[in-house]
Amino acid sequence: MSAHLGTDLHTAAELLRTGNIVAIPTETVYGLAANAFDAEAVLKVFTAKARPSFDPLIVHIGHPDQLGLVVRELPEGAEQLMKAFWPGPLTLVLPKRPEVPDIVTSGLDTVGVRMPSHPMALELLSQLAFPLAAPSANPFGYVSPTTARHVADQLGETIPYILDGGPCVVGVESTIIGWEEEGWTLYRHGGVPVEDLEEVIGAVAMAPPRILPVAPGQLESHYAPRIPVLVGDVEQLRAEHPHERIAVIALRRDYAVWRTMVLSPAGDLAEAARNFFGALRDLEASGAGMILAERFPDEGLGRAINDRLRRAAAKRG
Ligand code: TXA
Ligand code: MG
Repeated sequence: MSAHLGTDLHTAAELLRTGNIVAIPTETVYGLAANAFDAEAVLKVFTAKARPSFDPLIVHIGHPDQLGLVVRELPEGAEQLMKAFWPGPLTLVLPKRPEVPDIVTSGLDTVGVRMPSHPMALELLSQLAFPLAAPSANPFGYVSPTTARHVADQLGETIPYILDGGPCVVGVESTIIGWEEEGWTLYRHGGVPVEDLEEVIGAVAMAPPRILPVAPGQLESHYAPRIPVLVGDVEQLRAEHPHERIAVIALRRDYAVWRTMVLSPAGDLAEAARNFFGALRDLEASGAGMILAERFPDEGLGRAINDRLRRAAAKRG
């Protein structure tokens, strides 16, 4: 099987209605979608990604009214969060309804839900009677896809259709927060900066790294290209790692190395986030022997970039 890449919503909807998987655009990254209520279809997502079953999926809804299909109760603050950030890159982990298959949530009593803002995703969801369970459309542990071509390059042989909605405007995955006894807790930095969340619900606790076996965003090695990545002071790293084909990922500075990817000449962290995953892929494909990356400013979308860089740099296995 070889994936067709196109913009035909009817084809995508029909495949999803008949238990198939389809890659879809969202504003964050491309997702690999299946009917969230069809356990067999969801299993195909895990198989295509070679994703371990302990890693739960995010359920995508097309309208806040659909939340009741998957969630049994709303903790305090949830409605304000939805009003402030949906549609958009915020996933809420909420108590789940029993109708949501265990394969979606890895048997947890909670489900991650978001309403994406990409117009094509919303149009598709409006044509479907069910929400879509969708992880990022990349092989497990590898760099996330921000164009339809990225999806085709990695998973083209295993999925029947890729809905092409152009390049993702946010470029990093959604922020994930969940309600715990003490209040809202951050599980993953992402498209909505923590600062913005805190304006709406006050202080957000940070989940200690690696406590949750269930948040792959929390696995140490993730988002990783197939060449080594080192993060820190680029000049110093360069001195320590003499190599002919050194590639650098930088916010705005152009280094005198084999290749530099400047993510935002203006120093805009949102623009940098949008360009980030594509830069990792391009550098990997360019024949670079090693990627050195600056540490980004620890604010706004810089935190999401730093988080992914740290995991891209983490040793595997
Ligand atoms: O922006 C995004 O979130 C993209 C697009 C496609 O929506 N999706 C995405 O999915 O990044 P994925 O599978 O790559 O990451 C989903 C994350 C995982 O880290 C998973 O552990 C967490 O969501 N998650 C899902 N349900 C959860 C739950 N019930 N409790 C804790 N974490 C959960
Ligand atoms: Mg992912």
